[in-house]
Amino acid sequence: MTRRQFHRLPRHPAYRYEYADGMAQLTPRPRTCHVLLELRPPDPPPAESAVTTRPATAEDWGDLGALFSAAFRDRPPFLGLGGRRRRAAADAILAHARGGGDGPLIEDACLVAGLRHQDGPVGGAVVTLLPRSDLTDWRSFLWSESPPADAVARRLGRPHLTWIFVHPLAEGQGVGTALLRAATNGLLALGYTELASTFLVGNEASMLWHWRNGFRLAPSSRR
Ligand SMILES: CC(C)(COP(=O)(O)OP(=O)(O)OC[C@H]1O[C@@H](n2cnc3c(N)ncnc32)[C@H](O)[C@@H]1OP(=O)(O)O)[C@@H](O)C(=O)NCCC(=O)NCCS
Repeated sequence: MTRRQFHRLPRHPAYRYEYADGMAQLTPRPRTCHVLLELRPPDPPPAESAVTTRPATAEDWGDLGALFSAAFRDRPPFLGLGGRRRRAAADAILAHARGGGDGPLIEDACLVAGLRHQDGPVGGAVVTLLPRSDLTDWRSFLWSESPPADAVARRLGRPHLTWIFVHPLAEGQGVGTALLRAATNGLLALGYTELASTFLVGNEASMLWHWRNGFRLAPSSRR
C-alpha cells in the first residue's frame, strides 16, 4: 500500500503500525491495564433483574468455551481468528485456567450466568489466585513456588478476575455486573477483601465495565 493509504488506516492500540519500502507491517502489541476493587457487600440486585448466577460445575466448561469464543469474537486479542480457531483458543485458555495455569482456581467465584426465561448460560466468570504483589510487574502473574493445595482456604495471595465474558446478545443487561456481585459475595465469604483484574488497552467495553463497577487503577511501584 502507499504511505498515504498507510496513514489513513484505522488504528488500534493492541497493534504496532510500521511502514517501510512500500510495506505496512502491523504487529500485535498487547498492552494490559491492571485494576483493583476493594470488596464490600454489594448492593442487592435490582428487583426487576432477570439475571441468575450459580457456581460453575464440571459440565459447564464446554458451554463456557462457546460463550468465551462468542464474547471475544470482535475483541482483541481474538478478533483476527476465524470461528473454529477462536473456539479452540477459548477452550485451551479455559482449560489452562481450570488446571491452575493462572494460579489456583477459586471455585466459589467461578460462575455461570443465565437469564430467566432463556435456556442455557449467557455469561461466565473465572477467578484465580495470584501472589499478592505489584500487578504492573509481569512476575506478579506467576507464583515463584507452587502455591500449597490449601492456598485458597488459607487466604493466601490475591484473587484475580482472570476472565469475564458475556454473550454479545446479552451484553449491557447487567449480566457482567451480576457475575461480579456473586463473585464478590463468594470471595468475601472466603475472607478476601480485594479483587484484581486486567484488561487490554483498546477493549473499551471492558475498561468501562471495570470503571462502572468501582475498579481503580492498580498502583505501580515503578513511579
Ligand atoms: C465486559 C463485559 C463482560 C461486560 O458485561 P455486560 O454484561 O455487558 O456488562 P453490564 O451490563 O453488567 O454493565 C454494563 C456496563 O459495562 C460497560 N459496557 C458493556 N458493554 C459495553 C460496550 N459494548 N461498549 C461500551 N461499554 C460497555 C459499560 O460501562 C456499561 O455501563 P454503562 O453503559 O451504564 O456505562 C462484556 O462486554 C464482555 O463479555 N465483553 C467481551 C469479553 C471481555 O472483553 N471481557 C473482559 C476482559 S476479560
